[in-house]
Amino acid sequence: MPYNLLAGKVGIISGALNDKSIAWKVAQKAHAEGARIVLTNAPLAMRMGEIRALAAEIDAPIIPADATSVEELEKLFGDAQSHFGGKLDFVLHSIGMSANIRKGKNYGELDYKFFQQTLDVSALSFHKMMAVAERQDALNEWASIVALSYIAAQRAFLDYTDMAQAKAMLESIARSYGQRLGHLKKVRVNTISQSPTKTTAGTGIGGFDAFYEYANKMAPLGNAPAEACADYCVSLFSDLTRFVTMQNLMHDGGFSSVGISEALVEAMTKSAAQ
Ligand SMILES: NC(=O)c1ccc[n+]([C@@H]2O[C@H](COP(=O)([O-])OP(=O)(O)OC[C@H]3O[C@@H](n4cnc5c(N)ncnc54)[C@H](O)[C@@H]3O)[C@@H](O)[C@H]2O)c1
Repeated sequence: MPYNLLAGKVGIISGALNDKSIAWKVAQKAHAEGARIVLTNAPLAMRMGEIRALAAEIDAPIIPADATSVEELEKLFGDAQSHFGGKLDFVLHSIGMSANIRKGKNYGELDYKFFQQTLDVSALSFHKMMAVAERQDALNEWASIVALSYIAAQRAFLDYTDMAQAKAMLESIARSYGQRLGHLKKVRVNTISQSPTKTTAGTGIGGFDAFYEYANKMAPLGNAPAEACADYCVSLFSDLTRFVTMQNLMHDGGFSSVGISEALVEAMTKSAAQ
């Protein structure tokens, strides 16, 4: 049930690739809460076409931008402001990609060109977005910027390879830019550390099904679905969370605070007995 939490607010949502994408659900929920939205994705993703269905559903223009290109981000933020006739109230960074993961490289054999690309696409792009927004003075006071992270920023998950470093950098950028934008414009910057979620990016990771099930058995509430992540994003875009900034917020059904769960003890006991 919508609460009209984002009535009158406008913002940019990146990363909606298909209806499994977390950003797709955020766009739908933000729209339902009264926001007007500009959608963006890399030109390659747009050629796949699915984003157009979302754009039609929520009446949002699509402005393509490769998030590693400052020039394309400048056009995105400039055109979005022209479209809205004013500054932005929220931005979602929902972008991640590792060619090392795509090519199945293990942690000892990472390709360093790919590694740099992973950091550029998945972390530096967040800095670039905020730097462009700052230079264009594109944000209203009390605007809210959110990026999506994963607990591999704090704990070792070897199959997540270089994305672990990208997420650590992403969270660090949120703190540093959060401090800066807080002073400059009363803008908040946070990351949400989301449960494993069955999306294109998620299921591309080696062993995904195993750690999805493992996390689901560990978390007292179970894995948080994409729709719930979208609700959390909406709450962070809203005026109800104005003094939350520079945080990495766990959205994982309690996974990160559990040592071992009864479900896991039961599963291990069964397998030991076999
Ligand atoms: N799925 C999970 O298990 C999970 C868990 C925690 C965090 N996350 C994070 O959530 C975010 C969204 O991922 P998702 O799971 O919805 O998967 P997804 O594959 O639907 O979304 C990833 C998006 O990144 C976009 N992208 C890649 N390179 C880009 C570039 N150069 N410029 C602009 N966009 C680019 C893709 O086109 C795609 O839309 C990512 O940051 C991901 O790391 C995902």
